[in-house]
Amino acid sequence: MTVRAPAKVNLHLGVGPRRADGYHEVVTVLQAVSLYDELTVTALPGAPGELDGPDEPTAADPPPVAVTVEITGEGTAPAGAEPADDVSVVPTDSDNLAVRAALLVAEAAGIRGARLHLALAKGIPVAAGMAGGSADAAGALVACDALWGAGLSAETLAGLAARLGSDVPFPLTGGTALGVGRGERLSPVTSVGEYHWVFALADGGLSTPAVYREFDRVDDGRTEPTPADAVLAALTTGDPVRLGAALVNDLQAPAIRLRPALGDVLAAGQGLGALGALVSGSGPTCAFLAGDAEHGAQLAAGLAASGLARVVRQAVAPAPGATLITD
Ligand code: C5P
Repeated sequence: MTVRAPAKVNLHLGVGPRRADGYHEVVTVLQAVSLYDELTVTALPGAPGELDGPDEPTAADPPPVAVTVEITGEGTAPAGAEPADDVSVVPTDSDNLAVRAALLVAEAAGIRGARLHLALAKGIPVAAGMAGGSADAAGALVACDALWGAGLSAETLAGLAARLGSDVPFPLTGGTALGVGRGERLSPVTSVGEYHWVFALADGGLSTPAVYREFDRVDDGRTEPTPADAVLAALTTGDPVRLGAALVNDLQAPAIRLRPALGDVLAAGQGLGALGALVSGSGPTCAFLAGDAEHGAQLAAGLAASGLARVVRQAVAPAPGATLITD
């Protein structure tokens, strides 16, 4: 089973006070963009304990499902090579959200004694603030549900997704959505037309908890997230000039304080005529809105030539959510 799952950009990320559970109350508008990870799950013969090989001690209670992971593509080290220090490596163990997603589907579907191989072809930049790990988890939920014929409802899958992370429910549905709570409670949003985005990827990652901590350090007295009215109104017009002017990210200032070079990247995109420019989520990727595909290509070329970004990518939005593309 192969599933394709999209990256996202936050058109609006309003951050409120820190809650008792450590999360922040947010009001966010998410749009799925046409950068995808492809996740293929394959059932392997044999029992879970056999994955450890004959020399390993046999566990008294083998895991209900054993998962092996193979990762290729964007931001991953070539086979046999040591990863560079500034490249974030996707984990292949149970720290990988997709592995945890597979285990949750197995539990919900009553699957025991299965072996699973999970091949992840990454097209979404790693540790970029574009929710690539969340897309993989959403993809694994859909792929495992199909593989095991579990027949879990969209509601059940969304509930499992929310347990995995605040950003995991969105790539299940894709499109454009309003997120509240810690960002996991979604409702669809009217979005007219097609938007052309350019993403400038920085070297290395930026830790989401660290950016939220930096937000708290300065914005401690905040009682409400910034409301999303301007972005929601702009989306109903299909006018990229209006949308560009309405973009908001309350995590942008803290992200720039932690990584001042991001301010230079945003200024470069604005200087090249972007209709809007903002840090994507908690960063470090910067997102730029273009008027059309041709404008997007010019912006991408200018940003690549500036030498301020490690990689530049173009994408169209809104994109569909996690979709089964083959079995
Ligand atoms: O939900 P997720 O595991 O993706 O969140 C990662 C971290 O980001 C949390 O541990 C928390 O520090 C921060 N976060 C937050 N408020 C949110 C979402 C995430 O403080 N609404």
